[in-house]
Amino acid sequence: MSLRYYFGFAIMKETLFKQLKVLRFSEVDSTQLIAKKLAESGQECLVVAESQRGGYGRRRRSWFSPKGGLWFSLALRPDIDAKDLPKLQIAIVLSLVDFLREEVGLEAGVKWPNDVVVGKRKICGVLLESKLGDKVEYVVVGVGLNVNVDSFPENLRNVATSLLLETGREYNLRKALNKILERFSFYYRKVLSGEVREMLSKYKRYNVVIGRQVLLELKNGVTVKGTVLDVTEDNQLVLRTEKGTLTLSDGEVDLVR
Ligand code: BTN
Repeated sequence: MSLRYYFGFAIMKETLFKQLKVLRFSEVDSTQLIAKKLAESGQECLVVAESQRGGYGRRRRSWFSPKGGLWFSLALRPDIDAKDLPKLQIAIVLSLVDFLREEVGLEAGVKWPNDVVVGKRKICGVLLESKLGDKVEYVVVGVGLNVNVDSFPENLRNVATSLLLETGREYNLRKALNKILERFSFYYRKVLSGEVREMLSKYKRYNVVIGRQVLLELKNGVTVKGTVLDVTEDNQLVLRTEKGTLTLSDGEVDLVR
């Protein structure tokens, strides 16, 4: 599966994840698949890989995952209701935005539902896969952050970016991961305790779609045009269209000038 395999415990002393089992690989198909298998067997863990051959994103689209990026999946078993899962999505996205703004100095924003962007380009993607009853049985939070990626294939060149391309600097992947998990631990606690008001208002502030005219491609391929009125605390998009107001939980947004 990999050239180098390391198994250990996280060193994030101040975080909720200090007891978390960590699996590090040099190359895998997808950290997400490994974490999902472990989650199915009842474990919480963090899976990190230097590169992925079969990294994937939302709608099973392939995710460009060469060496230099930060590719990880966190398998968690939070004691929360299934209806509160979107708050976890908000928590991880906000952790990434905080990291980019506070540690790297980039003006990162959120493009609904869960892309992290700098200007018009995507710098990070987040994928949540879960098993739900009334409560969350498990959730696997996958993060792909283009850290030291120096070039992208032709089809991504105009839509993707990296920390390296934005700042001209290389970053230590372990330090970056620890910082992100520190932030996530902070927000994760808030989700567990239900104190999410501040987190939600910050998330709204960073959203680049609110008030904008957009073209929204729905899951079934249909495209709707409208103005974004709001993003709710369940991470739903409220869109005013010619035919009325829609509330949506998934879709691909294209900003119109
Ligand atoms: C998206 O924007 O569509 C989400 C992309 C998520 C990619 C990450 S990289 C680590 C983890 N492993 C995967 O195969 N996917 C996620």
